[in-house]
Amino acid sequence: MSRVEGGATGAVDATRASWSPADQDSRADRHTPADRHTPAGRHSPTAPHAPEGPRPMYSLTDVVKTYSQKKKTVTALAGVTLEIPAGQMVAIQGPTGGGKSTLLQMLGALDRPTSGTVLLGEQDLSKAGDHALAAARGREIGFVFQGFNLIPTLTAAENVETAFADGSVPRDERRRRSAAALESVGLAERADHLPVELSGGQQQRVAVARALVKEPTVLLADEPTGSLDEATRDEIMDLLEGVWRERGLTLVIVTHDSAVARRAERRLHLTGGRVTEI
Ligand SMILES: Nc1ncnc2c1ncn2[C@@H]1O[C@H](COP(=O)(O)OP(=O)(O)O)[C@@H](O)[C@H]1O
Ligand SMILES: [Mg+2]
Repeated sequence: MSRVEGGATGAVDATRASWSPADQDSRADRHTPADRHTPAGRHSPTAPHAPEGPRPMYSLTDVVKTYSQKKKTVTALAGVTLEIPAGQMVAIQGPTGGGKSTLLQMLGALDRPTSGTVLLGEQDLSKAGDHALAAARGREIGFVFQGFNLIPTLTAAENVETAFADGSVPRDERRRRSAAALESVGLAERADHLPVELSGGQQQRVAVARALVKEPTVLLADEPTGSLDEATRDEIMDLLEGVWRERGLTLVIVTHDSAVARRAERRLHLTGGRVTEI
């Protein structure tokens, strides 16, 4: 490891300690983009972040996203400037069409903005090619969606294993890690069940296991409880919050539900493609 990387990691650990709840020492052990994104031997000429503040996981500057449909142009994001510190739990609320899913796509390296910059750690996602975006997703990001997005013909365990579809992990290890991920969401006994044999809450647990099995630094959830009744919603939120505390993830949850948003450390409102703090 180079001197630069070592220094950056030390700074992050110190930062994380100040961010962590007092009872969550394990959060300081997490890998962060700082130790993964700094290419060996490449020196960044200026320190990108103030030494005393929490290190940003994301830094968005003037992010605009427009979609062209026939002759119309829709502005989904109208200039979003936002920092999300590593390890923060953020809720994003706002009306339908406000730009929430589009913002999550920018954070999730699923798409690039029309203009503006999106930094994930030190990597500029707005300038990354498709291959680099896919690599960033695979390395850093887990997704959870409202509709669970499980493959109906695969068992719970096989669904979790699809996270390794890039073939980078040997089969035995894929199996072992998928089983451990299912166990961590309380579904070890359901590993061989198809999605149709599981309740909505159980299906979302499988989806959470799939999102976590590669140990991402960021978990992005788009209306993760939108299809669940209140009791199951609370169970899934307990799970997500527990994962966030134990693993030191950066957790971003889009939600219509104020009961969900209230559990976050920070609440943002997104309407007309513009973000405000609540
Ligand atoms: N792929 C797309 N093509 C065209 N318009 C889109 C696309 N995705 C989103 N939009 C438009 O962008 C705006 C924001 O959408 P979205 O980010 O999905 O909002 P939200 O998730 O808050 O409901 C809406 O007007 C929507 O119709
Ligand atoms: Mg949406």
